[in-house]
Amino acid sequence: MTDKVTELVSRCLQARDLAYCPYSRFAVGAAILTAEGAIITGCNVENASFGLTVCAERTAIQRAVAEGHRQFTAIAVTCDVKESFVGPCGACRQVLMEFGSDWTVYLTKLDGSYKETHLSELLPFAFSPAHLTKN
Ligand code: THU
Repeated sequence: MTDKVTELVSRCLQARDLAYCPYSRFAVGAAILTAEGAIITGCNVENASFGLTVCAERTAIQRAVAEGHRQFTAIAVTCDVKESFVGPCGACRQVLMEFGSDWTVYLTKLDGSYKETHLSELLPFAFSPAHLTKN
């Protein structure tokens, strides 16, 4: 494991501690690695109007873009599931795809173990911004 991946995984675990999830009690943390080597984190932020909940991955992306980042190389995501490595929800996969298909995705368990996968594996045959120019 490279130092940067170790840091990314550790930052997503820390981000999970900040999750605001009084309704589901299902805390999720995410950490994004930018092309410049910065790490931007996010957690899920729920709402009493449940549909307004924002996932950890999207919190991180929106924060990253608002801080001036648009090029990303990796994301680490963690939640409380112990039995298996859990991927981002479908909506978050699409939001990641907005910024390119070349994301390494680290599905991280609470003990720090992780499975490395890729956005192109998680969202095959994806719709992307490039398709909007093809009509
Ligand atoms: N959640 C995430 O933060 N990311 C995902 O990819 C899946 C689900 C959150 C949303 C909600 O606060 C809680 O997990 C239960 O669905």
